[in-house]
Amino acid sequence: MCFDKEAAEWDTNYRINRAKKIAEEISSYLDGNNISRAMEFGCGTGLISFNLQEEFEEILLIDLSKGMIEETKKKIKNQNIKNMKTLVKDVLDIEGENKYDVIYTSMVLHHILNLKDVLYKLSKLLKPNGKLIIVELSKDDGTFHSLDEDFNGYNGFEIKDLQDLLKDVGLINIKGRTFYHSKKQINDKYHEYSLFSICVNKQKA
Ligand SMILES: C[S@@+](CC[C@H](N)C(=O)[O-])C[C@H]1O[C@@H](n2cnc3c(N)ncnc32)[C@H](O)[C@@H]1O
Repeated sequence: MCFDKEAAEWDTNYRINRAKKIAEEISSYLDGNNISRAMEFGCGTGLISFNLQEEFEEILLIDLSKGMIEETKKKIKNQNIKNMKTLVKDVLDIEGENKYDVIYTSMVLHHILNLKDVLYKLSKLLKPNGKLIIVELSKDDGTFHSLDEDFNGYNGFEIKDLQDLLKDVGLINIKGRTFYHSKKQINDKYHEYSLFSICVNKQKA
């Protein structure tokens, strides 16, 4: 999918409202001590992170799409936000390890084919005892992305399949639940879909 082309039109009321629910779900896994360093991977226009801005001392928002990051930067500037930074980058190219207390990501993994490499990378970037919080599309019959001609990712996931992959890359205390049900308009029909969340920890050193 060409996210650069979609960036300027990404912030629909529907997505803004959904992002609030997703941010609430992510927030429910946090300890609320307000001193941590977070990264959002595949931030798009930052819709989710703008709802989480006060939860962290600092948030790095990364995305492959320059267009998405440009939209995010405009909003950071207009709202004079000091603790959110952006980076145009493939997550696989982020250097270092043990850097973040929390990494969260929403609706990104189903676009990624080399999933295991990415999950391993995210695990490496987390500090020991850090948290990875994932929001994803539940297994779907393909209708969700049926209008996106160049979509070549996963038609959602079973929670269990993603949990197994997370175990394989060494993440522990895996919790998962379905938290959101909605309908997406596909031509003249409405397609029901749901989202789930998973929270995992990196082992203490
Ligand atoms: C469906 S959008 C979701 C955007 C946002 N998280 C939201 O929920 O509104 C997926 C985003 O993931 C980004 N993305 C996909 N693969 C990526 C990668 N390997 N590294 C960084 N960003 C990636 C895309 O550019 C796109 O902006």
